[in-house]
Amino acid sequence: MQDRVVVITGGAGGIGRACVEAVLDGGGRPVVVDAAPGTAEVPHYQADVTDEERLAVVMADVAARYGRIDVLVNNAAVVRSGDVEETALDDWALLWDVNVLGYVRATRAALPYLRRSEAGAIVNMSSFTAAAGFRRRVAYATTKGAIEALTRALAADLIADGITVNAIRPGTVDTALLASLAAAAPDREAARATYAARQPTGRMVSAAEVAHAVLFLADPVNRSTTGAVIAVDGGISDTRSTPMD
Ligand SMILES: NC(=O)c1ccc[n+]([C@@H]2O[C@H](COP(=O)([O-])OP(=O)(O)OC[C@H]3O[C@@H](n4cnc5c(N)ncnc54)[C@H](O)[C@@H]3O)[C@@H](O)[C@H]2O)c1
Repeated sequence: MQDRVVVITGGAGGIGRACVEAVLDGGGRPVVVDAAPGTAEVPHYQADVTDEERLAVVMADVAARYGRIDVLVNNAAVVRSGDVEETALDDWALLWDVNVLGYVRATRAALPYLRRSEAGAIVNMSSFTAAAGFRRRVAYATTKGAIEALTRALAADLIADGITVNAIRPGTVDTALLASLAAAAPDREAARATYAARQPTGRMVSAAEVAHAVLFLADPVNRSTTGAVIAVDGGISDTRSTPMD
């Protein structure tokens, strides 16, 4: 990862922040793009992924200031709970605008610079809700399903440019995003316990575990993994741990 410039959208949040630390530990140079304000420790651009013009300015400035962009981690997303009727159409539109078109906008803005990298990579943050049906997550789940399809199609388009495109599918991770869901529940602590218990491993996935997988996909040594979805999910997508005997 030595000196690789890694742009992380949503880098001020739980998983994004862990990615920043993993890139720093690996000798790379993380740059955060987030709607929230940053701190002085890490290069930070305050930008909303719904603002295409601002993203173009940000990526151009990153490339000018740090000389290159090697990796884009599309990670900024929002969540709303509800079934198909109780989720307002405005919330459907917001989730698609941030969670899907936000990834598309950041990708379009970063591509001219990723093409100049010797080993360009895009890592898209998906979710286990793309793979398994969970109650009251219908709008969010559809955005994550779209991200996994986007990842495969984009990977095919960008093979000729030498850019890998992959997705990470985290399980339940203890971050502000999860806290916002727990806060909306009648009993916050009971909700948190349920989130841990629903993981087949019985514990939440750590943000550092997710960041470790991001680092694997961002590593210039790894040029043969593309169009893949890597689960870091404690088995929640694909296993059932109920005893059979
Ligand atoms: N926490 C989980 O259990 C979990 C599980 C599966 C997948 N994920 C995915 O992981 C990613 C990160 O989630 P997290 O749990 O770290 O969330 P988080 O809420 O802790 O952080 C999200 C970050 O994105 C930023 N952001 C939100 N909207 C933005 C916008 N429009 N423009 C720019 N920045 C914006 C926020 O300011 C925040 O810093 C998301 O894609 C999420 O869907 C999370």
